[in-house]
Amino acid sequence: MRKRAHINTMGCQMNVQDSGRMRDLLASMGYEPEENPHKADLVLVNTCMIREKAEEKAFSFLGRMAKIKRRRPHLLVCVAGCVSQAHGKAILKRAPYVDVVLGTGAVTRLPKLVEQRIATGLPALDTEMDQPGFGPLPGPRTGPTAFVTIMTGCDNFCSYCVVPHVRGREKSRPPDDVLAEVRVLAAQGVSEVTLLGQNVNSYGKKEGLCTFPELLEKVHAVDGIRRIRFVTSHPKDLSPELINAFSGLDKLCGHIHLPIQSGSDRILAAMNRKYTADAYMDKLSALRAARAGMAVTTDFIVGFPGETERDFEKTMDLVCSARFDGLFAFKYSDRPHAPASRLDDKVPEKEKARRLAAILDAANAIIQEKNQALAGSVLTVLVEGASKQAGNQATGRTSGNRVVNFEVPKGMENQLKAGAYVDVAIEKGHAHSLWGRVLPSGGGKKPWEMCHAA
Ligand code: 5AD
Ligand code: SF4
Repeated sequence: MRKRAHINTMGCQMNVQDSGRMRDLLASMGYEPEENPHKADLVLVNTCMIREKAEEKAFSFLGRMAKIKRRRPHLLVCVAGCVSQAHGKAILKRAPYVDVVLGTGAVTRLPKLVEQRIATGLPALDTEMDQPGFGPLPGPRTGPTAFVTIMTGCDNFCSYCVVPHVRGREKSRPPDDVLAEVRVLAAQGVSEVTLLGQNVNSYGKKEGLCTFPELLEKVHAVDGIRRIRFVTSHPKDLSPELINAFSGLDKLCGHIHLPIQSGSDRILAAMNRKYTADAYMDKLSALRAARAGMAVTTDFIVGFPGETERDFEKTMDLVCSARFDGLFAFKYSDRPHAPASRLDDKVPEKEKARRLAAILDAANAIIQEKNQALAGSVLTVLVEGASKQAGNQATGRTSGNRVVNFEVPKGMENQLKAGAYVDVAIEKGHAHSLWGRVLPSGGGKKPWEMCHAA
């Protein structure tokens, strides 16, 4: 009998990576992937709890699984990820139909837990926080881009954040392991890698491995890799050496995601971020000086406990002066274990919503203006595939991580498949994407290494 597993991945790229490993482990147990949870014999939900909404989403999905299980009693319901790590046994109380609960450190023990559940008939639970290894090398790839985990966990303890409590302490992966994985990916046709960690700037420090800029140089030397990206960086650890890498390493894309969270020093201190707004702005200027067209994106939290109108004004001033190329903003949400949840002076929900709308309005107007200013330039795009909008359109990204949509000219269908690098003459800039026309290959185009960072 064929067995089928449906995996629902919520949250960040860390969870996407973990789900990939669990998919492979389930395959080794004979489970084939299944899109439709109604047809599955096993459902695995990999949960996120960065904000309350994410956690609610996990429980509402579980509620739907309970209904399916009434009709398919043999269905095994497994809950992995950050909600499992934080709540463990309490999940079994709240959702007694759940069969397996495994935390973020128990990913590799999924097969054992499923077998244990089947053998004993009792729910299996594993929230041991022993550090996960970095797992086997990736299976065959078809797309041109891939994420490579270089570190797990976080040591920063920002006062609002649940991550250090559900992902454990920072641990870096030896450079040789990282390089082995990058080489395998390159041999499979991947040309763009994104190095992944909660705080890549402190890579290797604790273990005395090489520094992050040194790791970038090693990845840069791998044949077949044409673009390198990384996420995420903490502003306090952004070193001059890393800023220099944007001048010295051609393959390093001209984009950095550098979450600032607030423009008020008082709030930054209460968040335990360990930098001031001025220090952030100095680093922003240095980054922009290091690479022409450097794209900088960021995150903000609005309505942190005690955030006054004056604090928020400072955030709005910074949004206007920093002119970010992309921005995510979130309403502050109390999280279990995070010290800020115990602070008084909470900002009312309605006020948080007003501040969120104000920040997004201001930022989106600037982003659109910057995108429109790119009209008339020629940017190199890594084609990622067909565009969602129309059949004859394709989509890809620039070095600066901007999405570019373009029409595929007749006769060029074969040259413009996922993985191709093409020069696109930008014609229009929208709030979240660019529109352009593909230039014929060869026609005086610059090699990709010289491409404009935008
Ligand atoms: N409430 C709201 N936003 C949060 N983030 C992290 N924790 C919280 C929280 N408790 C945001 C931060 C971070 C992004 C991934 O999520 O902006 O950079
Ligand atoms: Fe990722 Fe944080 Fe969500 Fe966990 S809680 S999945 S680490 S974003």
